[in-house]
Amino acid sequence: MKILVVGGGGREHAIIKKLKQSPAVTEIYAAPGNGGIAQDAACVDLKATDIEGITAFAVEQKMDYVVVAPDDPLVLGMVDALAEKGIPAFGPRKLAARLEGSKVFSKNLMKKYGIPTADYAVFDDAEKAMEYIQSKNEYPVVIKADGLALGKGVLICESEQQAKDGLKSMMEDKIFGKSGSTVVVEEFLTGPEVSVLSFTDGKTVKPMVSSMDHKRALDNDEGLNTGGMGTIAPNPYYTPEVAQQCMETIFLPTIRAMQQEGCPFTGCLYFGLMLTPKGPKVIEYNCRFGDPETQVVLPLLESDLFTIMQATTNGTLEQTEVVFSNQNAACVILASGGYPQKYESGKLISGLVNGQLADGSAQVYHAGTKQTAEGLVTAGGRVLGVTATQDTLQGAIKAAYAAADQISFEALHRRSDIGKRALQAYES
Ligand code: AMP
Ligand code: GLY
Repeated sequence: MKILVVGGGGREHAIIKKLKQSPAVTEIYAAPGNGGIAQDAACVDLKATDIEGITAFAVEQKMDYVVVAPDDPLVLGMVDALAEKGIPAFGPRKLAARLEGSKVFSKNLMKKYGIPTADYAVFDDAEKAMEYIQSKNEYPVVIKADGLALGKGVLICESEQQAKDGLKSMMEDKIFGKSGSTVVVEEFLTGPEVSVLSFTDGKTVKPMVSSMDHKRALDNDEGLNTGGMGTIAPNPYYTPEVAQQCMETIFLPTIRAMQQEGCPFTGCLYFGLMLTPKGPKVIEYNCRFGDPETQVVLPLLESDLFTIMQATTNGTLEQTEVVFSNQNAACVILASGGYPQKYESGKLISGLVNGQLADGSAQVYHAGTKQTAEGLVTAGGRVLGVTATQDTLQGAIKAAYAAADQISFEALHRRSDIGKRALQAYES
């Protein structure tokens, strides 16, 4: 089987590494891939959002299967475009990808089908939004851009003034472009966050092992929101009881709702959950694997990833085995100093041989690297993800940091407390 993976980050590297273990997979291509992915797949210089270019390439090269990993090509309808050419692909159709592509769509769906989420109201007028916020007079208040905003479209406003400024920057200054023309104003929820990625063929849903992201740039959850600075799996707050409750009140109702709406969701549906005092609630849906959640979840997958992916496309997920190991995984992201704001690229990376650690103590997933005549250099905000797998969470965290210590580049930034909150959950 000849497979094309669309995307070029750490998530895609983790997907490719896992697909390589499938006996059916003989050739893997990545578009665009990156310097480290090039060790595991043939990289093709096409942008992940180039629907026409990628579809034409897949047809020309007679791809047997395409995995569309990032949100934007999914929301733009890449899976539909490939299907028109008779090429099966992993990921939702355009209409189903609205679960992530439009916050208004997902919030309205949850309301209609009684799926627990934060109370909200939708506005396309900044003044009306402000009147609503003033009438509620409860802070913090959450303001979200309707459309995709590179994971940055959520503002948590502590005061009336912050809300005013936030609305202005989204709706008038358009810092997120058209994505912010419509906003969702939402109740602020509290509680531990859990990421649950799941496989679904539109009828059956099989959750993967749970995980915990660390979104803020600095230790103790301080600093700006990022794409994610590290992850651990499983998430200790996600007990079997909570999992059962989520299945009944959130996962199955969402799958059924999408079916009822005539846009069944296939691929990986990511549930961003908050375990509030009033039970688990949906913070967000993503229509794809999380990054860097994938870098701790897939290493724990014991079943064959390619078989599962095909089952989501063929509608045979119910009969397909999805089994995870009982181990724990931790991933520490090595980022460029300054990320998620301005940072420099082109810094020489030392400590790796062919993109991996010589001692094999951890798996290194490449997020933003480039191969040059001088060697491997940084080429993005998030540069590498270092994942260790061990019997205990404590062991996995220790091993991931010990492995990360072997890697360096100028102005490297990482958090030093990945997994700390999860360990506290075990202690309490
Ligand atoms: P998102 O980009 O939707 O993942 O949101 C980024 C982060 O904002 C989430 O991981 C939460 O920590 C936080 N967040 C989003 N919505 C809410 C909410 N209603 N209440 C509290 N925190 C939220
Ligand atoms: N790590 C969060 C996300 O992938 O959206």
